[in-house]
Amino acid sequence: MLIKPQSMTSLPINWEVFFPESKPLVIEIGFGNGKFLKTLEGSGANVIGFEVSLLSVEKALKTVDHRKTALLLMDGVWGVRELFPEKSVEAIYVNFPLPWPHRKHSSRRLFTLPKLQIYASRLVDKGVVQLQTDVEAYAQEAAKNAEDSKLFSVVDYTVTNKSQVGTKYEQKWLNQGKRIYRVLLRKEHHISVPNYIGKEVIMPHAIVQAKNGTLKAGTYRTTLGTIKLWEPFENGQAMLIPSMVSDDDFIGVSLQQRVYVSVSPHKEGFIVKLDNHADVFKTENVKALIWLVANQISNGAIKRINVQPPSELEYEPAREFS
Ligand SMILES: C[S@@+](CC[C@H](N)C(=O)[O-])C[C@H]1O[C@@H](n2cnc3c(N)ncnc32)[C@H](O)[C@@H]1O
Repeated sequence: MLIKPQSMTSLPINWEVFFPESKPLVIEIGFGNGKFLKTLEGSGANVIGFEVSLLSVEKALKTVDHRKTALLLMDGVWGVRELFPEKSVEAIYVNFPLPWPHRKHSSRRLFTLPKLQIYASRLVDKGVVQLQTDVEAYAQEAAKNAEDSKLFSVVDYTVTNKSQVGTKYEQKWLNQGKRIYRVLLRKEHHISVPNYIGKEVIMPHAIVQAKNGTLKAGTYRTTLGTIKLWEPFENGQAMLIPSMVSDDDFIGVSLQQRVYVSVSPHKEGFIVKLDNHADVFKTENVKALIWLVANQISNGAIKRINVQPPSELEYEPAREFS
């Protein structure tokens, strides 16, 4: 089954709704063609897979058992933190993650300290995280960060040239004669990590009396990340504004969402809200986006709004195409 948590009115998810049979919850981050999800299904667990590639999700939907496996098209670390209560996950598997070898991309790696803290908070006591990689430095860094965190112990570090998980990338590296590194971490201590979105989902919207201001396309930096606005599509009195909202919570776990804002006639003037097709998490920066659009099109005269303006705002004009 495919789950779209963006439209849920409260988080974390009550997984019993999707898996009526009470079994351990296990997660795979970056399942690729979904081969290992089938192995996890065979273990008798309730399986949840995260992928950022739509193509991979579509392929895996054709092969998984929909009673045993739930798939989500989203960043796995965000998913683990936002969709699971503390101490609810038995195991997290990561097979051949992108290594992000350059230093400037190091915060994107999946075994940094803040991400290990997120895994530890959502794992049950003695729950495990298993990494398979072809990159020795990545395996060593994951093991070192885990030990330094004091949240995990490294219970296995295996180097092999034999197939362990049978995934596409494992096969690829073995065919090239590479060795595979397996790191198994066990949770030893608990840590509490709050989710970012919060329990209550607010549907942001604003009422403006008149559209007498101008929307400025460009990049806006807020205290929480960035908002990009493009030129609106206009149809009579109505507007549709394409935007990109990035909520950076400063630990290398940022969420980027494409959002459409609609402005349409209303009995008190105009209503500014998320377009009906904008299936997004209502994050702080998405709320800031509604304020930003309402503020600009009304020339600072918002009549009513259910969210706060961002505390800091910096504007950079959109670059012209030359
Ligand atoms: C090198 S491939 C490995 C695929 C598969 N695990 C295998 O062993 O064949 C890495 C996969 O992770 C996915 N991915 C990368 N970062 C991710 C993230 N933060 N959350 C979920 N999936 C991610 C990519 O889309 C890609 O499919």
